[in-house]
Amino acid sequence: MAEPPIRICFVCLGNICRSPTAEGVMKLLVEEAKLGHRFVVESAGTGAYHVGEKADARSRAEALRRGVKLASLARLFTAEDFESFDYIVPMDSKNERDILRLARTPADRAKVARLRSYDRASNHPDVPDPYFGGANGFVDVYDICAAGCAGLLAHVREKHKL
Ligand code: 4NP
Repeated sequence: MAEPPIRICFVCLGNICRSPTAEGVMKLLVEEAKLGHRFVVESAGTGAYHVGEKADARSRAEALRRGVKLASLARLFTAEDFESFDYIVPMDSKNERDILRLARTPADRAKVARLRSYDRASNHPDVPDPYFGGANGFVDVYDICAAGCAGLLAHVREKHKL
C-alpha cells in the first residue's frame, strides 16, 4: 500500500512573499530528489489582507529568475490546518506566535518550527519580511528559503527514512 504523503505548510503574514517562495523552492527540491509523489507542499498566511491573490510580482520575478514558477493563491491559515499538515513552518517569530495561538493540543504545537531552525548555518531566527523594502530583500528571501528548505528536506528524509 502507498505510504501517506508528508504534508508541509509554510506560513507567513500575507502569504504573497515569503511562504509562496518557500513553497515553490520546496516543491522544486522534492522533485529534484525524485520524492515529489511523497509530499504535499502548500502555504498560508496569518493575515487575510491578500486572500485570493497570486504571489507578489517581485517574489514571482525572483523565483522565475531561479527557474521556479510560483503558482499559489493566498489563503488564511486556520486551526484546521493542524489536521491537514505534519509540518507547519512559520517564516518568523510573529507568525509562529500567531499559529501557536490556534493550536489546541501539544501534538499541534509540536508540528510548528520556524524555517530557519532547519538551517544549521543560520544564526538568525527569522526570514525578514521583504514587502515594504527594495528588490534586494526578495533576492535574500529566496536564498534564505533555499537554505531553510534544504535543511527541512534533510530533516524530513532522516526522520521518515526517505
Ligand atoms: P509576506 O509579506 O508575509 O512574506 O507575504 C507581506 C505581504 C503583505 C503585507 C505584509 C507582509 N502587508 O502588510 O500587506
